[in-house]
Amino acid sequence: MNINMQELYQAALKASANAYAPYSNFRVGAALLAEDGAVISGCNVENRSYGLTICAERNAVVSGVNQGYRSFVALAIATPDSKDPVGPCGACRQVLSEFMESDAPVHFKGAGPEHMDTTIGTLYPFDSLHDLSKSTM
Ligand code: THU
Repeated sequence: MNINMQELYQAALKASANAYAPYSNFRVGAALLAEDGAVISGCNVENRSYGLTICAERNAVVSGVNQGYRSFVALAIATPDSKDPVGPCGACRQVLSEFMESDAPVHFKGAGPEHMDTTIGTLYPFDSLHDLSKSTM
């Protein structure tokens, strides 16, 4: 499969415009690529209780699963309110690893010129329980 990470990043950037982030003023957009070419995006949704905030990455995963997907082959993250690229938080790395293989590419970029290209396995190494998620569910 030919994966266009730039296109995926554009989808993430578009999703970041929907962010509900009145507390941090930090908008995040995430876009997941499914095996059939579908792009599923998500934005962060904050809450006045702070702790219930949902990150863009987990929003995208949950949205994709709700559409029937069980596997994603690439991820892009856009953080237009930071100059530098911002990677997924620890909780999101765990959740992403449930539905992505370790060699899946990840691209993230802020408003500045720099970007990061890496993989799920690099972001979440020693994922010893990964194969537990390969049940028939
Ligand atoms: N956030 C994400 O959506 N994804 C990340 O990977 C990092 C953090 C959100 C949570 C919160 O709404 C805001 O960014 C500031 O932490």
